[in-house]
Amino acid sequence: MRLDKLLSNTGYGSRKEVRQLLKKGMIRVNGTVVKDPAQHVDSESDAISLLGEEVIYREFIYLMMHKPPGVLSATEDTRDRTVVDLLRNEERHFEPFPVGRLDKDTEGLLLLTNDGKLAHNLLSPKKEVPKTYFAKVAGHVTQEDAEAFAGGVILDDGYETKPGMLTILHSDEISEIELTITEGKFHQVKRMFEAVGKKVIYLKRVTMGPLVLDEELPMGEYRELTVEELQMLVKVNSSKQKG
Ligand code: URA
Repeated sequence: MRLDKLLSNTGYGSRKEVRQLLKKGMIRVNGTVVKDPAQHVDSESDAISLLGEEVIYREFIYLMMHKPPGVLSATEDTRDRTVVDLLRNEERHFEPFPVGRLDKDTEGLLLLTNDGKLAHNLLSPKKEVPKTYFAKVAGHVTQEDAEAFAGGVILDDGYETKPGMLTILHSDEISEIELTITEGKFHQVKRMFEAVGKKVIYLKRVTMGPLVLDEELPMGEYRELTVEELQMLVKVNSSKQKG
């Protein structure tokens, strides 16, 4: 990787700022001052230092966000605020992106990373990664609805969903439920309820694979995954695909 890219990715500033550090002779590679931003370095084997202090390179970042409503699960948008707009520069320079989408009005657990391979695997339909949503639904949600979801329901476009596990927490004029699904079709939870004649009025994702939304995280905030969370994710990532 280019030296200026590595330094910039590690948080030493923009490429332009990093070039100033290089120009001033502040960077050494294996003990020798290097001024060429294009010099190729190997983060594994080269010792890089800034004014004598070791530069510890990291490539990937993994963030758990408590997504607020009103914000898009995207990296950029001309009109609306995105989840990436909520990040501080320290994290943004890693160029993380959301793993999958939550609707603008949906809140809850969102993973952001720049690890494309892990994201791809978590989103692969073949992995059948379970996601649990808490929802408020207008009308009485019934055991028949749970049975329908368990057998798979037909969405408005004719697609038959895989089985979903519905837990009714409270059935009333406004019901509260949890639904676990292993797919991620567009507006899937809302459309599954539409398939049984009901309307979701509030939706929050609480789990994704082994990750559980940290209830200590205020809405709009995020934190890095813990080592344990990351280990569990890596396990899912390296597990055999289903089917
Ligand atoms: N299902 C939905 O309908 N919306 C979401 O944001 C996520 C799942």
